[in-house]
Amino acid sequence: MSTSDDAKRAVGLAAAALVEDGMTLGLGTGSTTAFVLEALGRRVQDDGLRVAGVPTSVAAERLARRHGIPVLSLADLGLDTLPTSQAPLDLALDGADEVGPGGALIKGRGAAHVREKVVAALAARFVVLVDASKEVDRLGTAMPVPVEVLPFAEPAVARALRGLGAEPELRMGERKDGPVVTDQGLWVLDARFPGIDDPAALASALDAIPGVLGHGLFLGLATDVLVGEADGHVRHRVV
Ligand code: A5P
Repeated sequence: MSTSDDAKRAVGLAAAALVEDGMTLGLGTGSTTAFVLEALGRRVQDDGLRVAGVPTSVAAERLARRHGIPVLSLADLGLDTLPTSQAPLDLALDGADEVGPGGALIKGRGAAHVREKVVAALAARFVVLVDASKEVDRLGTAMPVPVEVLPFAEPAVARALRGLGAEPELRMGERKDGPVVTDQGLWVLDARFPGIDDPAALASALDAIPGVLGHGLFLGLATDVLVGEADGHVRHRVV
């Protein structure tokens, strides 16, 4: 196992330990969250922990089921009767591709960012799980911003992204010919910027492009960041 996997496992175990009996969770997607789901499944199976979670992707749902974690959909949360001031999820746990100042994130390497954002926004606490290599001083220096697009609109969205200073690239499948197709049946343009000076302005500009379903800039959502080190130490940053 790589040192990065050691860090992800450490942070995954720390995240699973935050879960309390009776909680309703948001279950993130990715290789770090996989460690959380494994550890959580053990607590469900061995200790009788009673939890249920809304998965953020088909992949997360399959993993949760494999580990015996009860799965919910948004329709199970009673959103129509719950006061809008009350968060329907106690805790959402998810990875990230970059964590910048103020807990601003880039997510979406696994193309699950749109559902991940919906779930994070419904949680009282959104705890982000990364290894130390993901911490950056300025967003967008290492990772592109994934933008989920309607296939019909892809050339127009790519043009608009170039207008915002990005180099967009349609994400292609591995072991599948053609573009990556998301859980929604849409495509992903990876928009590479030469660093992002004003994430809030960029997020608004991306949201305003016709044909964009959503993007991987997560601003003002993270409440905590757990940073795993290869030696197994976990740092806790409160945002
Ligand atoms: C899924 O689309 C992503 O947002 C992931 O949560 C993010 O890429 C982190 O993934 P890893 O934990 O695999 O690094």
